[in-house]
Amino acid sequence: MNDAIKTLPTRMLTGRAKIAGVFGWPVTHSRSPRLHGYWLAKYGIDGAYLPFSTHPGALETAIRALPSLGFRGANVTLPHKEPALGLVDEATARAQRIGAVNTIVIGENGVIHGDNTDGFGFLAHLKASAPKWRTAHGDAAVLGAGGAARAVVVALLDAGVPRVILTNRTERRAEDLARDIGGDIEVVAWSERATALKTAGLLVNTTQLGQAGQPPLEIDLKHLPKEAVVDDIVYVPMETALLAAAKARGNQTVDGLGMLLHQARPGFAAWFGVEPEVTPELRDFVLQGIP
Ligand SMILES: NC(=O)c1ccc[n+]([C@@H]2O[C@H](COP(=O)([O-])OP(=O)(O)OC[C@H]3O[C@@H](n4cnc5c(N)ncnc54)[C@H](OP(=O)(O)O)[C@@H]3O)[C@@H](O)[C@H]2O)c1
Repeated sequence: MNDAIKTLPTRMLTGRAKIAGVFGWPVTHSRSPRLHGYWLAKYGIDGAYLPFSTHPGALETAIRALPSLGFRGANVTLPHKEPALGLVDEATARAQRIGAVNTIVIGENGVIHGDNTDGFGFLAHLKASAPKWRTAHGDAAVLGAGGAARAVVVALLDAGVPRVILTNRTERRAEDLARDIGGDIEVVAWSERATALKTAGLLVNTTQLGQAGQPPLEIDLKHLPKEAVVDDIVYVPMETALLAAAKARGNQTVDGLGMLLHQARPGFAAWFGVEPEVTPELRDFVLQGIP
């Protein structure tokens, strides 16, 4: 713990303070205030990042109020990511492809810009944790077709994976994702998920299965090449049963917490003017806030 963190309670805001926050419903589970609060203290920034409990019916009012309140921007979290895309003035190409916004930046002229940094966070953490992983090592097998899967699939295709093999309990949702995003995505039935791993250089779980309080993820890894990297974006618990099973058979594993930390970097840089670092100390600090 560095000295800046120890002095956190004595930090004072001035009238020039840069303000950002997160809109969620509920917002009580959000780790973002702790994460951004750590960086604000570490870099000694005159600024604040606050949680806002925002009912879906109030989201438009909340987003449209950001420029007049002098906010630098905001994050939006569940269930607001998809609706936010239709409420910003301009959205980045990646936010449009993903179909959701998680980061809002207010331009100098008051224009409300929307971006989606979830895929960026996923890829940055994957590259940092498995530096030897290359897109050429094989297909990317992705479990799930929800909001997180969209961000992961866009990031993987943009990074150059030859093919995404996509499987989801509700197959139509996977087909919709493949159609919306385009590119080389092969949809495989959920019942065939084990054999679909044969050509994988990367396996990613984007379902909520395996998360504390959710059913287990049932998947036989026997067809998965030993060289494949296994990435679970679930981070409660940190070592999911999937990661434990993958590790036991010799696959390299990547946990979900780093995605959360890295996705926050572009927003923090845009709002507060400092490129923040993801460090082991930050991981420990955010982990202490996870029940
Ligand atoms: N590490 C990070 O930074 C990060 C970021 C975003 C999300 N996440 C995590 O990713 C997970 C998914 O989030 P999301 O926003 O994509 O949620 P979502 O849009 O609700 O999608 C949920 C996914 O889980 C599948 N699923 C749920 N229950 C299932 C079951 N009993 N059997 C099989 N599949 C099931 C759904 O399949 P159906 O389509 O068949 O319902 C769908 O593919 C959550 O655990 C979330 O915490 C982590």
